[in-house]
Amino acid sequence: MKRVFSGFRPTGKQHLGNYLGTIQNCVALQDEYECFYCVVDIHALTTLENTERLQEDIYEMVLDWLAAGIDPQKSVVFVQSHVPEVMELHTLLSMVTPLSWLLRVPTFKEKVKMQPHNVNYGLVGYPVLMTADIALYKGDIVPVGEDQLPHLELAREIVRRFNSLFGFVFPEPQARLTSFPLILGLDGVQKMSKSYDNHIEISASPQVIMERVMTAVTDPARQFRSDAGHPEICNVFRLHKIFTPASADEIASECRSAGIGCVTCKNMLAQNIGSTLEPFRERRAVLSSKPDYIAQVLAQGANRAEFIARKTIREVKEKMRLLRRSNYS
Ligand code: TRP
Repeated sequence: MKRVFSGFRPTGKQHLGNYLGTIQNCVALQDEYECFYCVVDIHALTTLENTERLQEDIYEMVLDWLAAGIDPQKSVVFVQSHVPEVMELHTLLSMVTPLSWLLRVPTFKEKVKMQPHNVNYGLVGYPVLMTADIALYKGDIVPVGEDQLPHLELAREIVRRFNSLFGFVFPEPQARLTSFPLILGLDGVQKMSKSYDNHIEISASPQVIMERVMTAVTDPARQFRSDAGHPEICNVFRLHKIFTPASADEIASECRSAGIGCVTCKNMLAQNIGSTLEPFRERRAVLSSKPDYIAQVLAQGANRAEFIARKTIREVKEKMRLLRRSNYS
């Protein structure tokens, strides 16, 4: 069976953008592939100023994933640093990665601009660590957003180079673009993100969902209740297409004719988001009431991951002549 690998920075509670863009896709892949879903805490250290919230962010994120349908019986859910072999492979792969390849990675250049006071060595090696993640588990398919495509291209080049220098070990990973369109935040301008505070958490209560939806920006041309609206440019309508698919056409025509106002329209949206998220909220409550449940899931995931990781490392070292046959048989 082909193997899926994807890594996620620990960002704490997940929002609708994470759910629609990423989690939903990961849930669907579970039935077709052997999936590895990894919380990349070491990657997070390349940009973190401190680690006070790290454990809490890992916990909340994993809890949301499981509540939203990632099944730890089917998929291997684990934390990157719990399987330290990834750091070993990172070092070995760094020897076959020309520095020039890393210096031209677009995300590296962006980070240099964003954090000029903290251009650390790990930041340059970010794509090598990402390659090590995928290669350690011999991932074939990597579901990612468009921004990660240059990293994936680099991962392919690194494993190709390794394979040609030392002999075949790693399959070339293929990116699988998540087909979902970009989810805009409640401001209707930026993409949905916690850092812009324009998001709705998937664990939000119906009241909070209502309050958040009420703050959403709609068609700015629609000043008065009697003004005709333009659903095609309205972000609330975009969300209706996702959460109210059956009556989206009707809502659009009611908006154009000023048959309904924005408040009514938002009310409906909030209700529909609420009923979509309700089962997650219920499952989240059940899971979080079991003491140590998340810790157990992550420990079991790390065990399963470690078994494969050790095999790969042995194979890599043998190919690189770092091990003699008598040392590992
Ligand atoms: N760089 C990815 C991101 O920022 C996270 C990541 C780390 C990843 N390792 C990975 C994604 C391996 C896919 C595969 O989103």
